[in-house]
Amino acid sequence: MKILIIGKTGQLGSVLIKDAIASGHDVYAPTKHELDITNKQSFLTVMKLFSPDVVINTAAYHNVLLCEENPMMAFQINCIAVNEMAEISTDFNAWFVSFSTDYVFDGMKREPYIESDTPFPLQKYGFSKLAGEYAALTYPKSIIIRTCGLYGVEGATSKGGNFVDNRIKDSEKNTLLEVSNDQTVSPTYTGDLSNAVLHLISHPQKESGIYHLVNQGSCTWYEFTKEIYELMNINIKLIPVNRNGLTNNMRRPLFSALKNEKAAKLGIVLPGWKNGLIAYLNIKYLHNVKEK
Ligand SMILES: NC(=O)c1ccc[n+]([C@@H]2O[C@H](COP(=O)([O-])OP(=O)(O)OC[C@H]3O[C@@H](n4cnc5c(N)ncnc54)[C@H](OP(=O)(O)O)[C@@H]3O)[C@@H](O)[C@H]2O)c1
Repeated sequence: MKILIIGKTGQLGSVLIKDAIASGHDVYAPTKHELDITNKQSFLTVMKLFSPDVVINTAAYHNVLLCEENPMMAFQINCIAVNEMAEISTDFNAWFVSFSTDYVFDGMKREPYIESDTPFPLQKYGFSKLAGEYAALTYPKSIIIRTCGLYGVEGATSKGGNFVDNRIKDSEKNTLLEVSNDQTVSPTYTGDLSNAVLHLISHPQKESGIYHLVNQGSCTWYEFTKEIYELMNINIKLIPVNRNGLTNNMRRPLFSALKNEKAAKLGIVLPGWKNGLIAYLNIKYLHNVKEK
């Protein structure tokens, strides 16, 4: 297949490019300089030049606090640009795949969310992503993939690195660390997500709509950190804290683990979150990390 992948330097985009090429797909992955998704004309030009079968958009404005400060930018990138790309992809009869977030939910369900659960975002990031979902899904060949707590070998520049690397760096400077124990999530390794995305877009029974794709299971950020340190044999005093999901008065859902109900029906199953973490640590830190 001919696949246009947007978000070349990102945690997910970078691994998708490698995996898609390794799977024999014909991939074009422009830089942000070559294709800024807020410029409709430049997207149209790329579509005319490459004419892909599938467009995969991993670009987003997803620093949650910055979205609160710059809601116009959040809506421009997470909704308006997504709508324009879905519209143009339809004109080229290409599938359009874009990513959304666990933050479309308010966390009140207290058990893993499935695709048909009713969203209710608590902050502007979640609203802008939900608006992008609704916009994309007005076109017939759009797939929205909701995911959660991503970490990948190429760090998220917009967030100053990923959670795993940052906790390992913290352990080099501190003997004691406080980590929030109030938010339950499904941390997801982009290597596992990339395989699942490529499986989904190649699946003969894929349909337009929403799919959840996360490493299976859930934990709090404190529990995730504890597992990172155990696997890496790092000794540090870890203190669970409860911030009630609040950062600078901005609310995060207290429970936003996802369940991949629709993908599982197609036979697409991701490893559990502990196995995702082990795979990541082995690749990134060249350790012989095994489950204890
Ligand atoms: N990270 C998470 O924990 C998480 C959780 C749930 C859902 N998601 C969703 O998953 C998707 C992938 O996330 P990620 O962590 O891989 O993101 P990421 O590492 O921040 O990568 C985003 C990529 O998009 C590019 N980009 C940003 N603005 C652009 C624009 N206007 N035009 C073209 N490219 C642009 C960035 O380029 P530069 O680096 O040059 O800016 C970067 O290559 C996003 O939709 C995100 O909302 C992420």
